[in-house]
Amino acid sequence: MKIVESCQEMSNLSLTAQKSGRRVALVPTMGALHEGHLSLLKIASRQCDFLVMSLFVNPAQFGPKEDLCKYPRPFERDCELAEAAGCDCIFAPKPSDMYPENYSTYVSVENITNTLCGASRPAHFRGVTTVVLKLFNIVSPQIAVFGQKDAQQVIVIKRMVQDLNMSLQLITAPIIRENDGLAMSSRNVYLSEDERREAPLICKSLTEAKKLYDDGERSGQAIKNRVQSILDTGRMIKTEYIEIVDTVCINPLEKIDKPALIAIACRTNESGTRLIDNIILGGDL
Ligand code: PAF
Repeated sequence: MKIVESCQEMSNLSLTAQKSGRRVALVPTMGALHEGHLSLLKIASRQCDFLVMSLFVNPAQFGPKEDLCKYPRPFERDCELAEAAGCDCIFAPKPSDMYPENYSTYVSVENITNTLCGASRPAHFRGVTTVVLKLFNIVSPQIAVFGQKDAQQVIVIKRMVQDLNMSLQLITAPIIRENDGLAMSSRNVYLSEDERREAPLICKSLTEAKKLYDDGERSGQAIKNRVQSILDTGRMIKTEYIEIVDTVCINPLEKIDKPALIAIACRTNESGTRLIDNIILGGDL
């Protein structure tokens, strides 16, 4: 497995692979790999001949009071895990190469980035779309794989790819969970013991929501109430939002009559960790 820092070298490698007829796939990550990331790599590796994983903690998607500095960066462990998962190349650029002095160009998807997580993280999605577009331009993948855990991110990137006439295939991979249901996330390491014990309530509330839906409930409010009542049983987690929205425009659904995303964000009391999770009813992303 190659480890590449230079954007130019990465472009050349990828173009050479494509000229020799190989299909290139990209799995963008910020490192601190867990089983969720490894599942994305496995899915990608089945679809391509040259698998690139980008490993870049993107400063542009962190707000001024967010965890950019403390975000875990276990580089060597990440490299070992990526190689074992079938990765051919890790692209790990330096922030100063991605955003050199006088950097001024950002890509912004409108409307659908103002809601859900975008409401409390105003510049987050602009940072995500900018870096993802840059990674797509550098690596030129035919395929890119993202996790459903960040459902709004998936919807926003799909919108960008469609709006900007980009010709690559996006694959959405299912959420990978701990045994007790907690969605895997690099930020779970921030949780205190008590918070970790309560965190599976989020998944439990989504499972209950799905049960209600499967039993025929179609009222968005009724399902939200049930989800909220389950989250309210926790002392360590505070709900930031529970939304039921359509999977394209992220508009709230009073009546669930099309594929719906139930998205939850909570913040824990002690460590202040933000946890997100979701489920799709009546379709997929
Ligand atoms: O999902 C993530 O880890 C990041 O948002 C991504 C897509 C790697 C962009 O920095």
